[in-house]
Amino acid sequence: MNQGAIQKSASATAKVGGDNAGEIQASSSVFKSFEFSDADFRRLQQMIFDYAGISLNSNKKPMAYSRLTKRLRQLNMSTFGEYLNFVESSGDDECVRFINALTTNLTYFFREPHHFPILVDHLMGMAANEPLVVWSAACSTGEEPYSIAMAVIEAFATDRPPVQIIASDLDTEALATAARGVYPMEKLQSLSPQRLKKFFLKGAGAQAGYARIRPEVQRLVDFRQTNLHDGPWDIEGPVAAIFCRNVMIYFNKATQAKILARFMPLLRPDGLLFAGHSENFFYNAGDIFRSRGKTVYELATRT
Ligand SMILES: C[S@@+](CC[C@H](N)C(=O)[O-])C[C@H]1O[C@@H](n2cnc3c(N)ncnc32)[C@H](O)[C@@H]1O
Repeated sequence: MNQGAIQKSASATAKVGGDNAGEIQASSSVFKSFEFSDADFRRLQQMIFDYAGISLNSNKKPMAYSRLTKRLRQLNMSTFGEYLNFVESSGDDECVRFINALTTNLTYFFREPHHFPILVDHLMGMAANEPLVVWSAACSTGEEPYSIAMAVIEAFATDRPPVQIIASDLDTEALATAARGVYPMEKLQSLSPQRLKKFFLKGAGAQAGYARIRPEVQRLVDFRQTNLHDGPWDIEGPVAAIFCRNVMIYFNKATQAKILARFMPLLRPDGLLFAGHSENFFYNAGDIFRSRGKTVYELATRT
């Protein structure tokens, strides 16, 4: 897929909120309006695996149905077979919409909070002549990289900490939201009043109910599209830390191992890798990474 496709993406689907949003509704009216055979679903599974490395479980057929029906309606199509032919034949634009619809973007500010003190201690202990690079490798709608930015601003006690955050994702719509940096107030409920005041600008008038991340936080984060599964990665090493959280669960073991092997040469010899709460990299790549405690890893070659 064209890496520049981020600009071309348009809102395509009814993907709302968290992991299972829309699924219940779809399963109660299962596949009444649009023909979606098991063979179509197997084809869709293969396509999203080929494009994104995502192994979509067979119980996700209702989710796929609910995420894509709006698009079928827009295109005036009545069968998934017809739509999948269209995705395959119409190139990047529709492929981007298809991928965006099927990714799951659930995230929140300071998710897995124990990681942030470990990260800032690690960065503050590192010698560097150049800014320390932190890569948020599946940044979704931006909450993760902005949390990293807030944590380093606090730790270094300056708006200009010696840190650069690269934030990437495959989903172009999620990246566009991340780059905008505007969030409904209810998404900020997990933040302390101090952080809310220090790092956000509350909207007024037409923007009431929303808050914008302050420019000094946003300035630390550089968003770009990257497919972890495939193609070149637009990431300049050496990287002091990689956050690869809550995305490996969507990949099979072979894909996970391939990605972990690609992380290795990008990390500084003393770099750290942060994983999601249900992801065990040690199990997968014990020769490359060793555990440093709860879901934090270092290179096995580190002395
Ligand atoms: C559940 S979110 C995790 C967000 C964040 N890291 C966190 O832990 O809160 C998973 C993200 O992985 C992204 N993703 C899925 N497949 C990907 C791929 N092949 N390359 C890059 N990102 C991918 C999705 O678009 C989604 O935004």
